[in-house]
Amino acid sequence: MNNRIKFIISTSILLAIALVSCTDNESTNLINEFETTPYTLVVPSNLPAPILPQDNPLTYEGIALGKALFFEKMLSKDGTVSYGSCHNQSNAFTDTDKQFSEGIEGKIGDRNSMPIFNMFYHTKGFFWDGRAKLLRDQSLGPIENPLEMGETLENVVNKLQSEFEYRKLFYNAFGDSTVTPLKMSLAMEQFMLTFVSGNSKFDKVERGEAQFTDSELRGKQLFFTEFETGGETRGADCFHCHATADFSNHEFMNNGLDSESEFKDLGRAQFTKRPTDNAKFKTPSLRNVAVTGPYMHDGRFATLEEVIEHYNSGIKESPTLDVNIHGIKDGMNLTEQEKHDLLAFLNTLTDEYYLNNEEYKEK
Ligand code: HEC
Repeated sequence: MNNRIKFIISTSILLAIALVSCTDNESTNLINEFETTPYTLVVPSNLPAPILPQDNPLTYEGIALGKALFFEKMLSKDGTVSYGSCHNQSNAFTDTDKQFSEGIEGKIGDRNSMPIFNMFYHTKGFFWDGRAKLLRDQSLGPIENPLEMGETLENVVNKLQSEFEYRKLFYNAFGDSTVTPLKMSLAMEQFMLTFVSGNSKFDKVERGEAQFTDSELRGKQLFFTEFETGGETRGADCFHCHATADFSNHEFMNNGLDSESEFKDLGRAQFTKRPTDNAKFKTPSLRNVAVTGPYMHDGRFATLEEVIEHYNSGIKESPTLDVNIHGIKDGMNLTEQEKHDLLAFLNTLTDEYYLNNEEYKEK
């Protein structure tokens, strides 16, 4: 036997002994070379470049861990609910048609769940009131919320730590198999940042790949035009707030749902404690809006027709009503055809490609 073969046999035996002798959690630590694979987030050409966190670079391993956690029911107290239970892909990751989401033991939350896509444009805070500054801060909130998953972070960490599969996933993503809340939130942030929506009919028209019908085109003009009483061009003024390629300025605003005496949920003010923020909520993106009903922070409107009627004739005055709405507070008097056109335009924002993308599905 020559030396080379002897060497190969002896190293193989050593390796085999090493693999057999160590218990599952230590075996991952034996791998000397910890290496992650960078993930390049690609967005369609008509969308602006994503704003990604510099301190949490996307990697295939981080995303894989985030995905496992997103669909993990152990994150809830009684093992019945995962993030995936309240955020359905076919509904742009909002809850199905529920007004308020249902957590453990059938407990009901107090706000309508928000969709998840193009999170890399949300630079002004998460949730309806913006109380989470970064996506990663947002990601662990539901675990300890008694109305959602009702579990403690400590228990979750222990549960995950006791599973070999998770120790391996954490090791692969971060080079260390110890489960921590920070690593969990970073991994979930990575997974959610990969949800891209930019292939609706609207986007295809922008890129010259499709054409609007006459009705959709009239709806688009209404959406992007100022409302001017008596003027020649009639607009519905939507673009002031539902602006930019993501159809939201991501600001907190009062769009006239209630008068002051009717304020039930103080929205942004609940977090900032400033009366000037009373009843202000984050302007939602209108991408995929056809599948995210019911609408508004409290899910008060079941259909988009009702939403359009709200802006057309239902604006209520209050001290924090947005200035951009003041112009339409006495009603826009849209014709039936105009309402229909506006709806037709909103329906062009549905992105089937994103809604069915296999990459985001639980395997
Ligand atoms: C002053 C800013 C502003 C203007 C102008 C505006 N919106 Fe909104 N819109 C908002 C805010 C803020 C919300 C969320 C309010 C809440 O839930 O309390 C919202 C919610 C919505 C929703 C519900 C989305 C969801 O996921 O629940 C739709 C649909 C919508 N707006 C469409 C329109 C249309 C169509 C127009 C034009 C006719 C328009 N908006 C004009 C600020 C505005």
